[in-house]
Amino acid sequence: MLLPFVRSVAARRLARDVPRACSCSQGPSPRGYSRGAAGKGLVLGVYSSEKDDGAAQFTSAGDAFDKLVSGKLRTILSLCGPPLKKGKTRIFHGLHQDFPSVVVVGLGKKNAGINEQENWNEGKENIRTAVAVGCRQIQDLEIPCVEVDPCGDAQAAAEGAVLGLHEYNELKQKKKPVVTPQLYGSAESEAWQRGVIYAEGQNLARYLMEAPANYITPIKFAEHIEQKLRSFSNVKVHIRPESWITTQEMGAFLSVAKGSAEPPIFLEIHYLGAANTDDSPLVFVGKGVTFDSGGISLKPSSGMDAMRADMGGAATVCSAIVTAAALNLPLNIIGLAPLCENMPSGKANKPGDVVRAKNGKTIQVDNTDAEGRLLLADALCYAHNFNARAIVNAATLTGAMDVALGSAATGVFTNSSWLWTHLYEASILTGDRVWRMPLFEHYTKQVTDCPLADVSNIGKYSRAGGACTAAAFLKEFVTASHWAHLDIAGVMSNKDEVPYLRKGMAGRPTRTLVEFAARLSQDSHNAK
Ligand code: BES
Ligand code: ZN
Ligand code: ZN
Repeated sequence: MLLPFVRSVAARRLARDVPRACSCSQGPSPRGYSRGAAGKGLVLGVYSSEKDDGAAQFTSAGDAFDKLVSGKLRTILSLCGPPLKKGKTRIFHGLHQDFPSVVVVGLGKKNAGINEQENWNEGKENIRTAVAVGCRQIQDLEIPCVEVDPCGDAQAAAEGAVLGLHEYNELKQKKKPVVTPQLYGSAESEAWQRGVIYAEGQNLARYLMEAPANYITPIKFAEHIEQKLRSFSNVKVHIRPESWITTQEMGAFLSVAKGSAEPPIFLEIHYLGAANTDDSPLVFVGKGVTFDSGGISLKPSSGMDAMRADMGGAATVCSAIVTAAALNLPLNIIGLAPLCENMPSGKANKPGDVVRAKNGKTIQVDNTDAEGRLLLADALCYAHNFNARAIVNAATLTGAMDVALGSAATGVFTNSSWLWTHLYEASILTGDRVWRMPLFEHYTKQVTDCPLADVSNIGKYSRAGGACTAAAFLKEFVTASHWAHLDIAGVMSNKDEVPYLRKGMAGRPTRTLVEFAARLSQDSHNAK
């Protein structure tokens, strides 16, 4: 941030120097750059200097704007001291009549690309962060519209803007001002639009996860997704009631749902984007526990409110399908979301109860708080009805996943290296990373060694390898040769680890799922 003294002196001098009826409002503007409407903010990126002179290294858009103000941006930046570090900003007022406030933000190194250690594209991450920081400053100034420098990667810039500005305001009387980000200049408008769609997809998942459990009940969740998909003629949504779930003999799912007064829903979405509607679909499955109290194995009350986001698996996979439809991706996707609450009551599962899943396997419910795997067992069995290209499930499944990786990456347990490679490559681009975890027989033994049933819903060594025993449990309900289980418990919420997301439910890894689907739609091998 500019020192107040420097800002006032420099800005006053510039305000005086910038002619009012200047080339900005009447004369020619650099090719492709609009002059902007009055009252807009502008966010421009600047690379850290590679030369000793410390001169600002502008992006193309920065250069264009600097020309528009006759080199005053470069001058004022050099007056302000050393070059801007990554993610640091300076605000200039009065530089240009159409943009009363201009935020310049540090992008880091110009040639940043894939970082092999970090398993992500650092250049894209830098852009997302810088743009998010810049846009939030414009929001703090209560300016309703901001034009954004594409920074050489308009998709990443749009993602930074739309993700960075998002906040769950729904139930507050006093809301943050709405700021609409737009692309500065006319280059890369398609990539910008794609970035907006990807980010809006993640924001939809964030919205559903953040909302209180008394607002997003199973039926409300399903209706919200149905409403988002209503305008697409190639999408069919089935909201299956409890009676349907009973006919499907989903005894494991029903055993969890019956503890709550809120009826369960099985949400089924068919997106037919492929030229051939008979093409094998990608099947997404998401854990949809709209509130997880733990049931009779009750969770401690402190922090229990976060379990309103225990439908994060359902939220991310359904949002990914909404996004795929908006992008008109040429593939077929089926989305399945078993939705219910996990509550203690006279009808709830009791530790030691045995229930029967759709494939006939019996499950001993040794801990009623390990409920997600019960829903998923039945949903995974059902997923095998569709001759899927691949089955990918996402679930806020275990606290142990958070212990293992924290919020750095989603844990991926998969029986398919083909599937792993696609997910991994997608995540390098999105910056919403994945990390492969084991599906060893070692863990399977720990869930199948069970006194009363075929399988126990917890590992026999209780907490040891908790994320891995949960995955081994799910594997008992899978026969498909391309299946991946994504444990997203660690990435469920954000404190400040991802700088372009505000504190709150994160909606991760929606963009990775979308990018994965986009890659699959381009993959000529129809792997089965
Ligand atoms: N929904 C939780 C897992 C979770 C914890 C998600 C923290 C996000 C943040 C899940 O249903 C659960 O309670 N799992 C138990 C399993 C245990 C009883 C074997 C857990 O992780 O403690
Ligand atoms: Zn639980
Ligand atoms: Zn849960």
